[in-house]
Formats: sequence, C-alpha cells, structure tokens
Amino acid sequence: MAFVAHQLFSGFSSSAARNVVIKSVTIIGGGQMGAGIAQVAASTGHSVTLVDASDDILKKSIEAIEGSLRRVVKKKFADKPEAGEEFIRNVMQKVSTSTDAASAVRGSDLVVEAIAENLKVKQDLFRRLDKLAPPHTIFASNTSSLSISDIASSTNRPDKFGGLHFFNPVAMMKLVEVIGTPATSQETSESLMNFSKVLGKTPVSSKDTSGFIVNRLLVPCIVEAIRMYERGDASKEDIDIAMKLGAGHPMGPIELADYIGLDTVKSIMEAFRAKDPDNPLFASSDLLNKLVAEGKVGRKTAEGFYKYK
Ligand code: NAI
Repeated sequence: MAFVAHQLFSGFSSSAARNVVIKSVTIIGGGQMGAGIAQVAASTGHSVTLVDASDDILKKSIEAIEGSLRRVVKKKFADKPEAGEEFIRNVMQKVSTSTDAASAVRGSDLVVEAIAENLKVKQDLFRRLDKLAPPHTIFASNTSSLSISDIASSTNRPDKFGGLHFFNPVAMMKLVEVIGTPATSQETSESLMNFSKVLGKTPVSSKDTSGFIVNRLLVPCIVEAIRMYERGDASKEDIDIAMKLGAGHPMGPIELADYIGLDTVKSIMEAFRAKDPDNPLFASSDLLNKLVAEGKVGRKTAEGFYKYK
C-alpha cells in the first residue's frame, strides 16, 4: 500500500488539489486501452469499475492487468517479491468489473470510454450514460480520431465532457493528451489535467482537431511507410530499421502499426480523410485494407504485417 500512497502523493501539486474529487472511475471497454487505463488508475489509488460486453472479455482484461502488473513488480520490487505480491493484491482489490454500464456509472466521478472507434456507438453509449450518471460526473473519451464535440453532442453535459487520449501501452507511456472542446469548462479541463498528473502521466492540452497532436503527425507517417512497402521501395524490415536507426524512433512505423492495431490505424486515417478528402497525406492503402479485411490486425490477433507467437 505504501507504493500506492507514494504514487498518489507524488502525483499531487498544489494546482492538483481540485483533483481529489476524482476518486471513483468507471472505464467502459476492457480492451488494450481500457485495461491499461484501469491498471494505472487503480495503481494510483482510484476505485475502478471496468465495464465490457461479457464476463469472458472482462476475465481476459483482468488477466491482462495482472500480467502487466507482474512486469511492473518484477522491476520495481526485484529485491522484495512479497511486497510486490502485496502491491498486486492491493491494486487488484481496487478493480471491479461489470457488464452493466448503467449501474457502474451511478457512483462515478469520472467515466472514461475506450470502446470501438465508431462515432455512433460512442454517442449511443454516452447518450444512455448521461441519463444515469450523477450531474457532477465528468465524461471523457479515449478516441484517437473522432471529434470530441461530436461525441459530446449526444449528452446534456458538454461542459463536463473532454478527451483523455492515452497511449499504448498505457502503463508505460507517459503522455496523455487532454482535449477541450469550445464547450468544455475550465474546471473540467483542469480536473482532467490533474487526474492525468495523479496517474503519474504528463498531460498536454490540445484543441479538438483531427488527430490532436501526436496522431496528426504520426498516422500519416505510418501509412506512408505502409504505402512505401506496398510500392516495393523497401522491405518492411528495412523501413523499420531505417526509422529506428536513422530517425531515432524506438519502434519502426510498420511494427508500430501492428502494435497499435491495423484496424485502429485504418479507422483513424478514414476519419482524417472524411474531414479532408483531398489531402494526399490521408490517402488509403490497399494492403492495409486487405489485412484488416482478413482479420490480421496486428499483435492483438497474433498477425499483421508480422507474425507474433
Ligand atoms: P479494443 O478492440 O482492444 O477494445 C475495445 C473494447 O471495447 C472491447 O473489449 C469491446 O468488447 C469493448 N466494447 C465495444 N463496445 C462496447 C460497449 N458498447 N460497451 C462496453 N464495451 C464495449 O480497442 P482499443 O485498442 O482498446 O481501443 C479503444 C479506444 O481507444 C478506441 O477509441 C481507440 O481509437 C482508442 N485508442 C486506441 C489506441 C491503441 O493504440 N490501440 C491508442 C489510443 C486510443
């Protein structure tokens, strides 16, 4: 518990004082991102309810969280395995699961949505939750490519709605983009910034523009790398090596695409294209479309551009 308390304490600054109100968090979607967000929120002392469509999926989410915590513990508690086990137990006690989003949000200070990247599905979810969550509850979407204003328009709380864009893997990546729409209140933006700091992350603010900061720059680069491979200009391995050794990137763009999920990369590009159809940076890739249609979407299906065991 000492570790949790330390993380909680070290995350606070005087400007973060308001954030003490966010104690209880509901995360909708227990996939790659939702499970990661649940892990960091629980590790920093928040009470977390993780919601997904079935108990089977949630069982896998819990296993993923435990597996990730074990990797953390291996490093942080290398000399104190018992303290590591206690840390895992304490964090896991903070996470409950539910298939009923409606009842999960009733006691929540913050709802973070990390479900499929589809505007209508996200709007339907928030429209429903808006009627059930307490008035003070802040809603946030982890969308990579959709407009936060468009998602928020399904609710009657646009002032309490923002984007919280985490990066994959959530436990490792320090950045959170905090997105404010013209309707987001300053208090909500501050609460989301402070919540991110309490999680041990470094938040940056962005307007609600396509791709925010990172994806607007990164996704066109990834898809151009795929088009380069498709044209036969270089092998996928050499493209990845080139960007690692020549540009100092920790992962090559094609292995990064597999890591993010090719379905996610494709849908981000489609969303950019829908807003700016003539921009050549947003052109599609036949090869990317083919792999997604075949269900080979990267690490999460054990095959994308590369194969994984
Ligand atoms: P995922 O496919 O791994 O997980 C999505 C989960 O949501 C699944 O477990 C699914 O069963 C669940 N779900 C779908 N509809 C639901 C509903 N109505 N109610 C409850 N659960 C529902 O997807 P992933 O990668 O975790 O992405 C989730 C969101 O995060 C997307 O909006 C994506 O754009 C965004 N994102 C993804 C990143 C990545 O690297 N994969 C990075 C940052 C954001």
